[in-house]
This record gives sequence, C-alpha cells and structure tokens, in this order.
Amino acid sequence: MATLGIDIGGSGVKGAPVDTARGELLAERYRVPTPQPSDVTSVVEAVAEVATQFDGVDRVGITFPGVVVDGVTRTAANVDKSWLDAPAAKLFAERLGKPVTVLNDADAAGVAEVAFGAGHDQRGLIMMLTFGTGIGSALFLDGVLIPNTELGHLELDGKDAELRASDRAREAEEMSWEKWAGRVEDYLRHVEMLFSPRLFIIGGGVSKKSDKFFPLIDIRTPMVPATLLNNAGIVGAAVTAEQAEGDPGAIQTDAAAAARA
Ligand code: BGC
Repeated sequence: MATLGIDIGGSGVKGAPVDTARGELLAERYRVPTPQPSDVTSVVEAVAEVATQFDGVDRVGITFPGVVVDGVTRTAANVDKSWLDAPAAKLFAERLGKPVTVLNDADAAGVAEVAFGAGHDQRGLIMMLTFGTGIGSALFLDGVLIPNTELGHLELDGKDAELRASDRAREAEEMSWEKWAGRVEDYLRHVEMLFSPRLFIIGGGVSKKSDKFFPLIDIRTPMVPATLLNNAGIVGAAVTAEQAEGDPGAIQTDAAAAARA
C-alpha cells in the first residue's frame, strides 16, 4: 500500500513515496519547478510529472498553499487566481487515475511535525507556523488537526501579517534579522494572545536559520524549530491521504494516531 506525498510550493513541486508509519521518504524525492503562471492546468501537469516517476502508488496526498475544503481550493493568495473554487482533488484524481487527498500546505507540514517531529508526544493546543512566501498556520488539539486556520492573514499594524513578517517580506525589504525578528515577535505575541497555544513550531525554509532569529524573539510560549524541514509537506500529505482513504472531506488528520501506528 504505497502512498505518494506531493508538496506544491512557491518554487517547486516535490514528491516522494512515504513510509507513513515512520514519517520517512521511501525514495529520493523528485522535483520540478512550479510553473509560472501557476494556473490550474499547468500545476496539474507538473504534479502528474512528479507522480509518474514512482511506480506502485495506491493513493496520493497533495498539499496546496491555500484553503482547501472538501477537495476544493478556496483561496489563492500566492498562486494563480484560477485556483479559486477549483475542484482540485477531482482534477488531480482524474489526471493521476488514483484516489487523491488535497490539503493546505501548512496543515500538511504540521501533521508531519506533530506525528514525527518537533511536536511529537505533545498534548494540548499546538500551533505550527510556516514562514516562507506567505505565513501558513496549522492548529492541533491533542494531535488532531483543526484545518484551514489561515492565521498568516491576521492584521498586523493595519496590514496582512504575511506581507510584513513572512520570509519573503524579509528578503524583499532586505531586512536585518533584528528588524524581521521584531515583526515576527509582534506577530507571535498577537497569535499567543488570541490562542494561548502550549507550543509554537516554527517551520518554512527560514527555520533552518533559527539560531539567527530565535534568540531575538521574546514571547511567553515555548518555541521550537521544525525538524522535518523540506520533507514535512510530503510526509504530512501522505499521512493525511492514508487516513482519508480517498474521502476528500476527511482532512481532520489525527497526527497523534499516525505516530502510534
Ligand atoms: C495562504 C495559506 C498558506 C500559506 C503558506 C498563505 O498565503 O493563505 O493557505 O498555508 O500562505 O503557503
């Protein structure tokens, strides 16, 4: 029963078969550049190109950088607007000829971290935040995902938070680590005031450089860097696809159960 995980990111579409009991890739991942523009037709083709690299796949889990409800993509902040209300799970399933589950990218990364990484064995309310092109969020209560929280779009200083505090904003505005960390701190304080999570897991590519900015951030909630890094989306997508068993509505993944399996 092989499950393939595919992660649709801002720069690349990456996939690999996943050992969903251990949270590890079973083969080297295959990557193609994300098409530009990232419209539905081109991205479906890019996903198909990744999927055809692997044989013997029974089902596929796919991440998407926006809200996904019942396999339909509802927002498209950082991808082509043709994704608004696209029947993504249906389109991918038809193209790949296999059952497909589609879920939000941060939700997928969070599932992997809570099952196998930085959030392993943590009970209570855990929040994963990914700092990349946007800011993604994933909320877990006792290991169960509450999907599509979209906390990157909270308002901060009158602006959409991800426009001020994402890693893309840091690069685009050539911010010092001090300046960016100040914005991230403001953002995290706001989120902790609203949710009082027990733990923040900080992901996204920038989490590899956590030594540069973690010491500059002063908040009450404990904060740890993600540990699965590049593979979190792929692993979380596969775990979710396996739990959903082809039901596109079933994306409230129980990451704690995946860890126990
Ligand atoms: C989107 C989220 C996504 C995040 C990270 C945000 O702009 O609205 O759905 O998880 O970017 O890709």
